[in-house]
Amino acid sequence: MKTQVAIVGGGPSGLLLAQLLYKRNIDAVVLERQTRDYVLQRIRAGILERGLVDLMHEAGVAGRLQQEGLAHDGTVISYGAEHFRIPFTKYIAKPVVVYGQTEVTRDLYDAREACGGVTEFRVEDVVINDVTTARPYVTYRVEGQARRIDADYIVGCDGFHGVSRQTIPSEARKEFEKVYPFGWLGILSETPPVNDELIYANSDQGFALCSMRNENLSRYYVQCSQSDSTDNWSDAKFWDALRQRLPESLAENLVTGPSIEKSIAPLRSFVVEPMRWGNLFLCGDAAHIVPPTGAKGLNTAASDVHYLYNGLRQFYEDDDTTGIDGYSEKALARVWKAERFSWWMTSVLHRFPGQTDFDARMQRAELAFIRENEAAQASMAINYVGLPY
Ligand code: APR
Ligand code: PHB
Repeated sequence: MKTQVAIVGGGPSGLLLAQLLYKRNIDAVVLERQTRDYVLQRIRAGILERGLVDLMHEAGVAGRLQQEGLAHDGTVISYGAEHFRIPFTKYIAKPVVVYGQTEVTRDLYDAREACGGVTEFRVEDVVINDVTTARPYVTYRVEGQARRIDADYIVGCDGFHGVSRQTIPSEARKEFEKVYPFGWLGILSETPPVNDELIYANSDQGFALCSMRNENLSRYYVQCSQSDSTDNWSDAKFWDALRQRLPESLAENLVTGPSIEKSIAPLRSFVVEPMRWGNLFLCGDAAHIVPPTGAKGLNTAASDVHYLYNGLRQFYEDDDTTGIDGYSEKALARVWKAERFSWWMTSVLHRFPGQTDFDARMQRAELAFIRENEAAQASMAINYVGLPY
């Protein structure tokens, strides 16, 4: 098979890129290791920056997002018994939109099917070849049969555990990593959200987050130990832990019910440089991971897609390689800022093993300062809502 752009990985990065390219008549094939249903089972964050919403419009897949997405123009932060609100739209004329990543991915799969785009599922043994030549290709197997795709460019959208990053020789890539000494235990429950905006909570018992998917579907998290297991967390224990971590005036609105999903996620910051090697480009989790505090994972993947899509368009439409030549540098400049913001939010909101009382007071003083200082609030709002592309 021959195509212009071979995309390894059918998560949100790969699918969004494929759909944007389709709109410009640029041919792409998507190779996905799992099935569509498997990909759509994964529950991830649900906060979309304006830039991603705009890309969904440009890709022609924003219909349901427009109908069902909830615009949020602020968020609540609590520390101990105190809480305050950051009014995003006082500082930047853009809200964020609450819409699950699972729904973004579903909309993209539906659009890809509707336009007849080629997606190969259950691919195995993907190998990316000859990316430093003008004739790169991908080999793989489907149901035991060997296949090959020749392409102008190969894009690695295969997530943190994919193969594309490893295709860059180890002496040519530098990896930066920080693993946090805790995890997030998350549940979904068919209950009305405790608040109409998100609550990020710093408490003596650890971090908590109150989020939502819609008016009758809540998503809640509590900080847990890295080695914890969901078996240790009955629903009752979860609700108790969450309640204890919220100021009383907010906790009193908490409606509890059975969880319909429960899982633990580790927290990690990771970046690989460069994000281009010859004719291979990395996008999204294949190149970087952020801890979920601040919801930058999907949004940072989207900014990569934006830079790469525009670079590929420039190449195919104007025979100009400026955009793709500048891709790695441009994408990384924004990635690092999202990394900094996610690391900072993580640092200021969690309880760290070995943290002293002094450290806890520093967190509290920082949050109190944000509460009282408009410049600090503006800085947080601008980063949370999303830096410009
Ligand atoms: N061959 C083909 N597909 C692969 C391979 C491989 N060798 N390895 C992994 N994949 C697939 C995975 O099955 C997955 O569907 O690549 C996809 C990668 O998707 P994600 O991990 O979701 O990464 P990405 O599309 O970059 O999405 C960005 O935003 O909120 C964050 O981490 C969150 O998933 C999220 C991300
Ligand atoms: C979520 O809704 O799952 C969510 C929201 C905000 C975050 C992380 C996760 O920072």
